Amino acid sequence: MDFIKVTKDHAPYVALIELNRPKELNALNIQLMSELGETLKALDTDDEVRVIILTGNEKAFAAGADIRQMAGKGTIDMLQGELFGIWTQISKTSKPTIAAVSGFALGGGCELAMSCDMIIASESAQFGQPEIKIGVMPGAGGTQRLTRAVGKAKAMEMVLTGKFIDAEEALRYRIINRIVPVEVYMQEATKLASEIAAMSPLATQLAKESVNRAFEVSLEEGLYFERKNYYMLYSSEDQKEGMNAFLEKRKPDFKGK
Ligand code: CAA
Repeated sequence: MDFIKVTKDHAPYVALIELNRPKELNALNIQLMSELGETLKALDTDDEVRVIILTGNEKAFAAGADIRQMAGKGTIDMLQGELFGIWTQISKTSKPTIAAVSGFALGGGCELAMSCDMIIASESAQFGQPEIKIGVMPGAGGTQRLTRAVGKAKAMEMVLTGKFIDAEEALRYRIINRIVPVEVYMQEATKLASEIAAMSPLATQLAKESVNRAFEVSLEEGLYFERKNYYMLYSSEDQKEGMNAFLEKRKPDFKGK
């Protein structure tokens, strides 16, 4: 891997993926995105991993898709290229994902963070969809995920002016979970990941799937989907372990079975 660093045992059952093109503010070129896609696919089927943290560095989570790489492209190149399919793959990861964002999360970088399930931001985080300033528009969820998160008026303003919002505003608009000082944003993301990693991975996977379903279907269908997933967990050893541990006043030891 040239452009990402992967630490599988960052914390028990927690994998860490670091975007690693610091000079280019982690601009997302095709190679980085395919490395990310392959890594996520591998981690998603790895029993030793229950939660995935995605991060950049203090200065930049990612400043967007690589403009240098895209500048000379035509429509057919974009259509046939593999760059954008990977964003879809990220949101399809079945394990919980947490973006730890500091500095710039712009364009595809903002879309990448929003493709994760939760976002822990440092005080210096800035979010934006500045594609309009370079003659295009968001192409990996910026008009859809952002609109669902912040509502039409704010999404329109961000997408049509390209202006960035800071961490405080991102929190107000419910793009992120919380803001912490720069020195501890990785610690905070790790703490959240570890908390989730201590749960039954079967339950977290089905719970994640069910929450995401709320964006796709009617309430009635969503409730039906939720109920089936809930019943399904009663055939797991983890359900017995979790409930017995409660009754025996001890900590559960979930095996993902
Ligand atoms: N693509 C390629 N290179 C990028 C980049 C990007 N998205 N963002 C930054 N870089 C490079 C710069 O070209 C520069 O490289 P050189 O030193 O070789 O010139 C280096 O990173 C540092 O950047 P700056 O000197 O510009 O740093 P700054 O602190 O002055 O400004 C910034 C930071 C405001 C983030 C500015 O770099 C910027 O505006 N970047 C582009 C942001 C953007 O438009 N993103 C959207 C991309 S399109 C997209 O993402 C489509 C989609 O929906 C998927």
